[in-house]
Amino acid sequence: MAEAQTQGTDHPMTTVKLKAGEKVAICRCFASNKFPYCDGSHKEHKGTGPAIVEVVAE
Ligand code: FES
Repeated sequence: MAEAQTQGTDHPMTTVKLKAGEKVAICRCFASNKFPYCDGSHKEHKGTGPAIVEVVAE
C-alpha cells in the first residue's frame, strides 16, 4: 500500500512511496481531506483534477 510522509512546515514536501503495480490519485487542488490523495473534492472547484500516478512493473 502507498505510504505518504510530509516533512517541513514553511514549504511542506510530501513523499509518496509506491510499490510496483500500485496506482494513486494525487490531489492538485489542495481541497482534499485526505491529502496528498484525491478524495473527489476537486469536483466542487474549477481548475484542476488529480494527477494519476502508477508504477508500471517491467
Ligand atoms: S481532491 Fe484535489 S484533485 Fe481531487
